[in-house]
Amino acid sequence: MEATKERTLVIIKPDGVQRSLIGEIVKRYEQVGLKLIGIKMVIPTPEMAQAHYMVGGEEWLTSVGEKAMASYEKKGEKSPFATPRECGQAVLNRNARYMSAGPVVVMIWQGNRAVPLVRKMTGGTEPLSSDVGTIRGDFTLDSYALADLGERSVRNLIHASGEVSEAEKEIAIWFKPEEILSYRLIADEILYDINLDGILE
Ligand code: CDP
Ligand code: MG
Repeated sequence: MEATKERTLVIIKPDGVQRSLIGEIVKRYEQVGLKLIGIKMVIPTPEMAQAHYMVGGEEWLTSVGEKAMASYEKKGEKSPFATPRECGQAVLNRNARYMSAGPVVVMIWQGNRAVPLVRKMTGGTEPLSSDVGTIRGDFTLDSYALADLGERSVRNLIHASGEVSEAEKEIAIWFKPEEILSYRLIADEILYDINLDGILE
C-alpha cells in the first residue's frame, strides 16, 4: 500500500467523550494533515470491545500481561497474577468494561504513515508519563498505580492502532466497506503533489 494511503483506527474512549474532548482530538489529527474517511458514534457492547482488543490475538494478551508484570516487578511489588496470560486476561476484562461504559467515537484517519504518526500524537499508554504535547499527556493524568488501586483500565482517552496490520483488522471490526468514504481532499495536493501547480493565477 502507498504510504500516503495508510489508514489507522482511532477511538475516542468514553472518558474522552465525557471530558468534551471530541472536537479537540479531531482537530489535532485534522490539522496535521490527515484525512478523515470514516466516523461514527457507538455505544459498544462488552463483546465488541473484547473482539476489538483480541485482533492482536494471544500474542497481544501475553505481551500486555508481560508489560504489566514487569511494571509490578520494577516497583518491587508482587503481581497478583501467576502468569502473563492471566494478567493479560484481566487487562482485557477491564478494557471491555471501560470501552463499553458509554458512547465512543470511532474514526478512520488516512495519510502518510498514519499509524505511527497518530501514535506519536496520541502519546504513551500511561498519561502521567506521556510526553507533553501529546493528546494523552496534555489532557489527562491517570497512572498505572491509580488504575491498579481501582482494579480498572488506565483511562487514557484514546485508542490508536499500533501496526498497519492491526489497523486493517480493527477497521474491519468497526466499519462496513460502504461506511468508508473515498473522496478528494483539496489539501492533499499541497501535502503530496510533486509540483505545487495551480496556486498562481
Ligand atoms: O492503547 P495502547 O496501544 O497505548 O496500549 P495497549 O498496551 O495496547 O493496551 C490497550 C489499553 O489497555 C490501554 O490503552 C489501557 O487503557 C489498557 N491497559 C491497562 O489498563 N493496563 C495495562 N497494564 C495495559 C493496558
Ligand atoms: Mg495497543
